[in-house]
Amino acid sequence: MKSNLICLVAFVLFASFNNQPKTIKPGEIWPDNNGVLINAHGGGILFHEGKYYWFGEHKIEGKKGNQAWVGVHCYSSKNLTDWKDEGIALEVVKNNPESEITEGCVLERPKVIYNQKTGKFVMWFHLELKDQGYNAAKTGVAVSDKVTGPYTFLNAVNPNAGIWPLDYPDELKSKSFSDTLKGWSDEWKKAVKDGMFVHRDFKKGQMARDMTLFVDEDGTAYHIHASEENLTLHISELNDKYTGFTGKYIRVLPTGHNEAPAIFKHNGKYYMITSGCTGWDPNAARLLVSDSVMGNWEYIENPCFGDDKELTFHSQSTYILPVEGKKNAFIFMADRWKPENAIDGRYIWLPVKFNENGIPYLEWMDEWDPGIFDKM
Ligand code: GAL
Repeated sequence: MKSNLICLVAFVLFASFNNQPKTIKPGEIWPDNNGVLINAHGGGILFHEGKYYWFGEHKIEGKKGNQAWVGVHCYSSKNLTDWKDEGIALEVVKNNPESEITEGCVLERPKVIYNQKTGKFVMWFHLELKDQGYNAAKTGVAVSDKVTGPYTFLNAVNPNAGIWPLDYPDELKSKSFSDTLKGWSDEWKKAVKDGMFVHRDFKKGQMARDMTLFVDEDGTAYHIHASEENLTLHISELNDKYTGFTGKYIRVLPTGHNEAPAIFKHNGKYYMITSGCTGWDPNAARLLVSDSVMGNWEYIENPCFGDDKELTFHSQSTYILPVEGKKNAFIFMADRWKPENAIDGRYIWLPVKFNENGIPYLEWMDEWDPGIFDKM
């Protein structure tokens, strides 16, 4: 009798433990289905046929910084809390120093989108050539027939070579700039605003560092990246296949020093959360708004509230995920970088909240259940 009672109590405890909602704990260790730390930094998520696919930078134990020795790691989940290791979606190339994605290159912030017309999955990422620091400032593209890969690398470019931005005034196209201006002087800032770096990179193509992708409701895809020495964001339209640029692009907040762009659409407005430029160290996020992807973008405010709002809760934006099937449900995804041991970088995911005027904002939560979106 007594042992039956103990069994019953044990069963009830076990059952209630198993019914606990799975939660998201920003900044904690997040294991995958094998109990291994999820390794997908600077990532983004694609929802496809009932599952979320998380792509991010695979880091190596004990290595500093951002060199890529493995490639882009992919995980899948139906509920945003249980993640299955789907392996390496894009591998860096071993034993071929000629390849632009040879091991030891810098391959950052991969994002994947699905092209309805071609049926292909298209991955873009920030690429720096091996042993060249952050000088190349290229964007690379790879495609696959299967969401989890393997992805085939196509090429890497400095976008929009030989083309002026759509919003660039005609009178500035023939302007010449002195190359002796003192950095950060008022004259220098004015010159940057007037497109000094757009001119400098006109023939070769523009710089493309921190990046993200966005597919609008009409199927048009955009590539958003830090350009002009990280001083100005560029938003470029992608072609029908999503594998190249149409040449239509705009400059966003010239000299605004925005990087780590993450974008979403809500109630007919486009919102972007960015960071300032302080390398691996966190800084205050910025919220921008526009009536269309192609501008005009305006700065609203720091979207973070509460303790550590000036440091984006010790993290830097990477993506904003619309929760599938919900109208007002978005997850802000960010990285808490650990440059001394990059693999130990942590993931900060927070639900996007909206104030009474419909403006998005973020508050720290130690733990939260994605089930909160079921009510939305
Ligand atoms: C950050 C950037 C990261 C990485 C890092 C290197 O500002 O967002 O993706 O490039 O700089 O210092």
